[in-house]
Amino acid sequence: MMRKVFFSSTVLFWIAVLGLWIGNVITPGTSGPAAAADREIDAAELARHASPEDCWMAIHGAVFDITAYLPDHPSRPSIIEPWCGKEASSAYDTKTKGRSHSRDADALLPKYRIGVFKP
Ligand code: HEM
Repeated sequence: MMRKVFFSSTVLFWIAVLGLWIGNVITPGTSGPAAAADREIDAAELARHASPEDCWMAIHGAVFDITAYLPDHPSRPSIIEPWCGKEASSAYDTKTKGRSHSRDADALLPKYRIGVFKP
């Protein structure tokens, strides 16, 4: 009888441990990239990142920290750098000369997303 109680409580214990572990693994955390990407950034905060060494841009409602990408950007620095710290959707959509960026460019953006733009 005692052995049976001992055996079933041991099994139940490990089922509980496993359940907690799986629950923890599959539940999205409250910190990390997903939560950071939803951080609200206003125009004043955006404007504090207006240099090539620290370059944030708001494009279509999201904010991107593209500092690391700037040296790889195919245009002359003088074309893209003035948009650091600013709402740059129109510049992004036209490349300042009427042609939109490619899908490849669009696909790069999520990597640099740091928050939502709340002007
Ligand atoms: C918002 C300010 C920006 C301006 C004014 C701008 C402007 C330009 C210009 C003038 C070119 C030159 C070559 C061409 O005419 O195709 C270009 C190309 C490119 N840009 Fe930007 N850019 C901006 C932001 C960005 C951002 C934030 C990304 C991605 C993180 C990006 C990714 C690219 C890529 C991948 C190309 C190669 C051509 C293409 O895929 O369309 N640009 N951009």
